[in-house]
Order: sequence, then C-alpha cells, then structure tokens
Amino acid sequence: MKILLTGGAGYIGSHTAIALAAEGFEPVVLDNFSNSHPTVMERLTEVSGRSMLLEQGDVLDTDWLRQVLQRHHPVAVVHFAGDKAVGESVAQPLKYFHNNVGGAVSLMRAMVQATATGGGDRTPALVFSSSATVYGDPATVPITEDFPRSHTNPYGHTKLVIEDMLTAQCKADPTWRVGVLRYFNPVGAHPSGRMGEDPDGMPNNLMPFVTQVAVGRRPFLNVYGNDYPTPDGTGVRDYIHVMDLASGHVAAVRTLLQGSQGFTVNLGTGRGHSVLEVVRAFEQVSGRAVPYRIAPRRAGDVAQCWADPTLARTLLGWKARFGLEDMCADAWRWQNLNPQGYRSA
Ligand code: NAD
Ligand code: UFG
Repeated sequence: MKILLTGGAGYIGSHTAIALAAEGFEPVVLDNFSNSHPTVMERLTEVSGRSMLLEQGDVLDTDWLRQVLQRHHPVAVVHFAGDKAVGESVAQPLKYFHNNVGGAVSLMRAMVQATATGGGDRTPALVFSSSATVYGDPATVPITEDFPRSHTNPYGHTKLVIEDMLTAQCKADPTWRVGVLRYFNPVGAHPSGRMGEDPDGMPNNLMPFVTQVAVGRRPFLNVYGNDYPTPDGTGVRDYIHVMDLASGHVAAVRTLLQGSQGFTVNLGTGRGHSVLEVVRAFEQVSGRAVPYRIAPRRAGDVAQCWADPTLARTLLGWKARFGLEDMCADAWRWQNLNPQGYRSA
C-alpha cells in the first residue's frame, strides 16, 4: 500500500516515512528539496533497510502531480510540503500564500483529476500538516480542538485557509476522507542519530538553536523574554518527539483507511515545558553547557501553549510516548554525530 508524502524529504516527512515503512506501507517521497537535502534519501534507505521511492518535483505542478498519482495509485497522501518560517512569512506573505495555499489547491485538483481519469480508483485519503498556530493566542490551556481559531501571521493564515478549503471539499464531495493534524512543537530526531532536523542558516526554533550552541556552532542562546506569566517567566510549549509525531501519522492513515470519514486532532503530549526547563534538560542529557542570555520578547510569541491530546487518543488510538529527556537525547545525538546536518555527510 503506497503512501505519497509531499515534502517527504523534510524534517517531519522523513521521520514519518520511516514509521510508515516500519508498519508495512510503501512510502513515496515527493519533494523539490527547496528546504531539504537530497542526502536524506540515502539515510532513509539506510535507516529503513529498503530503497525509498523518490519523485522529485514541485507540488505547484498540477499536471505532473496527477501523473505521479496515476503512476503510484497511493491509498493515502500526506501533505507536508510547504514553507514554515513565521518571520519570513511576515516579510514575504505572497511566497507563503503561493506555495502553501497554492500547493494545497494544486494537490487537491490533481487528486480530483487523477481519480476522474484513473479507472475507478477511490480518491486517496488525505492527511494534512496543520499547526497549533491556528489557535492564535489561546485564552486558556490546555487547548482542545474546538477552541476558536485565529491567525497572528501569514504562515498561520495559510494553515487556516487550507483547513477551510479541505472542509469545503469534503462537503462538496463526500468520497473525500481528510485527517487534519495540528502539531504542537516537534523536536528530537530518529534514535539512530542518522536523521534529524537540519535548518538552513540561523534556526528559528528553540531546540535546533540549543543543539547548535551545545555543539559550538553558536556562542549562546537568546531566551526571548523572562517576564511571561509562567512559573519561571519564560515561554511554555508542548514539545513532542518527532517519532511520536510520525506514529501519529501512521495512526491517522490507518484510521482513514479503516473507514473514518475524517477528523481534526491535536498532536501533542499534553505537557508544557518552559524554555529554561528545556535548556536544563538538554544540559543534563548532553553533559554540555548551554550559555544563554535573557533577550526581549519575540514579536508574536504567546506565553503558553499546550494541547489536550484526548481526542487523538479516542479517535486514533494514539498517544505520545516520549518525554523531554528522550527528545533532548535524540536531538543531541543527531547534532553531535552530524555537526553540519546532512551537509556533514
Ligand atoms: P520542512 O521544511 O523540513 O519540510 C517541508 C518539505 O517540503 C521540505 O523538504 C521542502 O523541500 C518541501 N517543499 C516545500 N515546498 C515544496 C513544493 N512546492 N513542492 C515540493 N516540495 C516542497 O518542514 P517540516 O518541519 O517537516 O514541516 C512539515 C509540515 O508540517 C509543514 O507543512 C509545516 O508547516 C508543518 N508544521 C511544522 C511544524 C514544525 O515546527 N516543524 C509545526 C507545525 C506544522
Ligand atoms: N525561543 C527562545 N529562543 C530561541 C527560539 C525560541 O527563547 O532562539 C523560545 C520562544 O520564545 C518560545 C519557545 O522558545 O517561547 C518555542 O519557540 P519555537 O520558535 O521553537 O516554537 P514556537 O512555539 O514559537 O512555534 C513553533 C513553530 C510554528 C508553529 C508553532 C505551533 O515554529 O510554526 O510551533 O506548532 F506554528
């Protein structure tokens, strides 16, 4: 059973490919490598013990996508492809609406066309990478899926628009089955140390910044604000191990293939950790110091954000297994063995 992973060479897509392959599915990675490195394909083959299928190209190319769908007849598509840097989306909103919203429109149209001309195939099930960013600045925590949605930047806006487009398409054509996964804060790496997060240039997110300080690529971490209304004043987030996130995708695909009409669920652990807790846990497991300085708050950050993950447990039979120490230990193993990420290879 083939599963097409758009953006499958990226951070979350590559770990999901491993989890799907381990469960007997045949992942087909589709990527244009705009934010990933082709070396990941060798690592995928090495870690999974099987050669991974690759379709190199752009999701914006609807005709080509239709041909890919007709070539592989996937039972499900997981749509990871898109741009994800919040700050860049504020500076270049059109890039985000074009690639993220345009990419989703292109994929959905290609799915319609491939099904119409595919000789009786069902529309593949679709799993979409949404984000806790759709909750904006939540009034309370933990966050359940029925919280009001809002956006504080163009990146988050694209996720809202895509969620709405999927809802409209499911209403228009009840043969569509869509699972929307709202990720909280994915961190960590495959426990082998052969795959992990490999941001290009200055990392935007906390964990890759911490690991780069620990390995000596950067002198210190800026902690963005210590005057939030949280126990130690620093921002609190629901960090989730990327392998837990990957198994959440396997559960989502299985649930859709077993007849579910669709769902929208949070993928988080249900626990919040502050920036300083992450720094301390990382120092503990790595044995390295992580020097930091308190800096002003970062524009657009919320004080605290964590999930109520009950619905994912009820609907998908999934829950996160790994804790903060596992996340730090696996992130550190990856960074330590690959100080320049995939470019170290
Ligand atoms: P990533 O950048 O590592 O992976 C995205 C992949 O998509 C990259 O390999 C990139 O080359 C590819 N891509 C981008 N545009 C493409 C296009 N037009 N055609 C083909 N390939 C294209 O990001 P990630 O962290 O793995 O995130 C995956 C998805 O999850 C994204 O949609 C992101 O918005 C969402 N998400 C991520 C986080 C996070 O913190 N990492 C949190 C919530 C949601
Ligand atoms: N932080 C620092 N220093 C840094 C980076 C981050 O102190 O160098 C702090 C932030 O202020 C925040 C916490 O660490 O309190 C987490 O920040 P991240 O940038 O790692 O994550 P965010 O919660 O800001 O955002 C991430 C993704 C978004 C996504 C959101 C919810 O970047 O795309 O999680 O899923 F929408």
